[in-house]
Amino acid sequence: MNVVVVGSQWGDEGKGKLIDILSQESDITVRYQGGNNAGHTVVVGNQEYIFHLLPSAILHRDKVCVIGNGVVVDPGALLKELRGLKAKGIDVTAKGLKISGRSHVVMPYHRILDGFRESLRKNKIGTTGRGIGPCYADKVTRCGIRMVDLLNPGILRARLEDNLREKNEIFRKVYGEKGFSFPGLYKEYLDYGRRLAPYICDTAVYLNKAIDEGKSVLFEGAQGTFLDIDFGTYPFVTSSNSIAGGVCAGSGVAPTRIDKTIACVKAYTTRVGEGPFPTEFSSSLKDEIRMKGKEFGATTGRPRRCGWFDSVLVRYSVIINHIDALAIMKLDVLDDLAKIKIGVGYTYKGKVHKDFPMDFEVLNKARPVYEEMDGWKTPINGIRQYRQLPRNAKIYIEHLEDLLKVGVKYISIGTKRDEIIVR
Ligand code: IMO
Ligand code: MG
Repeated sequence: MNVVVVGSQWGDEGKGKLIDILSQESDITVRYQGGNNAGHTVVVGNQEYIFHLLPSAILHRDKVCVIGNGVVVDPGALLKELRGLKAKGIDVTAKGLKISGRSHVVMPYHRILDGFRESLRKNKIGTTGRGIGPCYADKVTRCGIRMVDLLNPGILRARLEDNLREKNEIFRKVYGEKGFSFPGLYKEYLDYGRRLAPYICDTAVYLNKAIDEGKSVLFEGAQGTFLDIDFGTYPFVTSSNSIAGGVCAGSGVAPTRIDKTIACVKAYTTRVGEGPFPTEFSSSLKDEIRMKGKEFGATTGRPRRCGWFDSVLVRYSVIINHIDALAIMKLDVLDDLAKIKIGVGYTYKGKVHKDFPMDFEVLNKARPVYEEMDGWKTPINGIRQYRQLPRNAKIYIEHLEDLLKVGVKYISIGTKRDEIIVR
């Protein structure tokens, strides 16, 4: 069984925890897009791990993790993550981690350009500053450097010289900054190549052969559907296809080989960075939920914006990703609330929108239409059986199922591995 896990909102839905659990049942876990803009948290015992580039299954030593061709890799950040794991006693070998030679490399000029571009924008995106957008832009304009290029000194030299010729002009003339000198960068990236060489291979061939042999693959989405470059709240999005459709191009595994898609969804809504967010809290609830749900970015530490569950938004995700089952995360964060609201539509200029709008003005100015229900007002993190959940918690979940037209299979009721209900 080959399964995709995607985020159905604006990222941070709890994909790391779900992947950690689901990967026990599969042989290989694959990241297929994004880069170290992601921050996937896994809690084991009292130890918290945050993964940015490594798939969240890396803690299972008998499993294989793959960084697919659709990912953009910052080699320095990846080596740092590997060192961090080693310090905690986890030595990742070439048997346990495979990196696509076709994945593009994030260079220092990408990170700096990311910041420069943000500083000139009137309407800032609020990027993570990891160089993700500029790296994908170079991939598409065909001047990118790939992981396999780091293994070939002649190719790396040619590509880097071409890039610096252009980038240094931009740095000087547009931003009035000093550019990069070739020798230092060349040496640094050749060295990364040397250190990462054991992991680099053709992961598409590896994955297809593994599937031929009956192995099961889990695809770990980063970001979320509304950060997707095509279907998200453009331009307040990331630069890759984070929807389930991104799996094929980002891993080399064809659509007919994928069996199932599970969406991770938070029991409420959050967003980091700028952009429209119709059901965002305006009251003191935003601080209460942020504290209770520890809603601070796992990558940048920024406070996340918080709001009510938006069924218009998530219904759109269910359609675009063709979701087979939902995993509702962080339900326990709502434990103390007397009343809970669910967004079920938007109104703008007297018109009610039941489908997610494309028009930026509508999305930005629409007022949500809410349904309100009673909360359960009891702690639920000790519960392991669906039928033992408080009546109102079950009403909430079953109402979401009706609105979203898909079943809920997993309910997370705490941060720890075992704090999950499987239906
Ligand atoms: P995970 O995988 C939440 C957001 C940024 C910004 C926008 C563009 O942990 O869910 P970028 O640096 O990608 O160019 O920034 O996307 N963003 C995320 N928000 N979780 C993430 O990943 C994110 N990755 C990017 O905050 O608004
Ligand atoms: Mg995140």
